[in-house]
Amino acid sequence: MTMRVISLNVNGTDHSVQVGPLDRLIDVLRDQLGFKSVKEGCSTGDCGICAVMVDGKLVNSCLMLASQCDGRRVLTLEGLVNDLSMKRLQGSFIANNAAQCGFCTPAMLMASWDLARHKADPSEDEIKVAISGILCRCTGYYQIIDSVREGCKRGTT
Ligand code: FES
Ligand code: FES
Repeated sequence: MTMRVISLNVNGTDHSVQVGPLDRLIDVLRDQLGFKSVKEGCSTGDCGICAVMVDGKLVNSCLMLASQCDGRRVLTLEGLVNDLSMKRLQGSFIANNAAQCGFCTPAMLMASWDLARHKADPSEDEIKVAISGILCRCTGYYQIIDSVREGCKRGTT
């Protein structure tokens, strides 16, 4: 298998990584670069747990080849630890008990943060659409929806 070196900007830092033609973005992020907030669930594009942003768009990193990301910007939850909007959302998730096992939480937060960037006061339907690609097996979604609504609103104050 032919290996090649690609350039990835992850959370603002440039990395050169050696990848094979079938190496997935999720594996490079977790195994080569150590971004463990990126979780793997179904591996088939169905659960959304592996969501990261690539060039500003939310994608399932289990479905993306690392080589497709050559020269692109990737954002994971680790890149948002000091972001005010993310802090508000995290606080809201905690206040509303919106995480149980926590496996879906990084992806839920990334999708919520993406929504908050575009909508200061999203409707319930808009929240549902924003998180619709991510499966949570624990919470029943009510707490998550409340958290996203409150977290986005707090971002406007
Ligand atoms: S692990 Fe990627 S969509 Fe489920
Ligand atoms: S909190 Fe367990 S899967 Fe969502």
